Amino acid sequence: MKKIGVLTSGGDAPGMNAAVRAVARTALSKGMEVIGIQRGYVGLLNREFVEMNARSVSGIIQRGGTCLYTARCPEFRNMEGVLKGKEVCEEIGLEGLVVIGGDGSFRGAGDLSSVGIPCIGIPGTIDNDIQCTEYTIGYDTAMNTAMEMIDKLRDTTQSHDRCSVVEVMGRRAGFIAVNVAMAVGAEAAITVERQYDLNEIAKKMIKTMSEKGGKHHFILVVAEGVGQTENIAREIQEMTGVESRATILGHVQRGGSPTLRDRIVATEMGYHAVELLEQGIGNRIVGLKGGKVYDIDLQEGLNMKKAFIDQRYDILGATAY
Ligand code: ADP
Ligand code: F6P
Repeated sequence: MKKIGVLTSGGDAPGMNAAVRAVARTALSKGMEVIGIQRGYVGLLNREFVEMNARSVSGIIQRGGTCLYTARCPEFRNMEGVLKGKEVCEEIGLEGLVVIGGDGSFRGAGDLSSVGIPCIGIPGTIDNDIQCTEYTIGYDTAMNTAMEMIDKLRDTTQSHDRCSVVEVMGRRAGFIAVNVAMAVGAEAAITVERQYDLNEIAKKMIKTMSEKGGKHHFILVVAEGVGQTENIAREIQEMTGVESRATILGHVQRGGSPTLRDRIVATEMGYHAVELLEQGIGNRIVGLKGGKVYDIDLQEGLNMKKAFIDQRYDILGATAY
């Protein structure tokens, strides 16, 4: 291929810039032309293009967000939008496209591949909820951000003998919640993947408080998919008598400079995506398997089921309180 495009789509994630940089630099080093498409599929349909050279991706590897901007594009959910996207690609001579985003973005990439524009998906989402990869770009940074914020929250929670019920992001997935709960020494992680029993949590809190020298402040981490954070805080307060506050960390988890892990994985995945396109291969998702970068058929990858990190609950249960 002589000319490829790159776009970021769906929610932004720290490390997307590192992926864009790797795609652009790798392609340029192979003598390809690279077009940056702004605002995801919206920008593809509206022809929002920037010609990329090695310098246009200078100084972005350490920045959060995405220099290409991102958007959600309802029009791309139907074939009419996808065919319009194909026409625009052909109009400017794009022979392949790298799509950095989540599973929704990959479905769009699959559709575009099916009409003759080979696309490669790179997983960029803080949620780590893409079935065919152990890791998604942004996950590590988001978890570190949540961890740092909950560490700060603990100071005030402890000073007031309160319970903080903290909601972390993750869409429907509880990966961020379980890991962050473990990393901050929380009493429990409440997620959709595992049944939870607030009575059990409350009983444990009451027992701990009744012990000589027992503790009187608590942190519960709730995955946003549970959707009950305020109610959980209220119920815990009623059941234990401990003043409980809900804190929703929100979009701050999507910001900030990417960690080393996110920069490295993004760079490796960006490189691999271009290697595939160079060989004329499309309709693939790049992922991590056994810690190594690999690629898989897009539809097959989207149909996989991701195992949840159940063992972490046991460790959390054994080490809390
Ligand atoms: P993410 O990629 O993070 O999962 P979304 O689910 O919001 O984020 O999807 C991003 C964009 O991908 C959507 O706005 C739409 O343009 C495109 N997309 C999502 N689902 C589909 C689909 N089933 N078919 C085609 N395109 C889709
Ligand atoms: O997919 C990333 C994510 O931040 C999820 O964790 C969250 O559910 C969602 O995006 C929020 O989306 P929006 O930016 O549209 O509020």
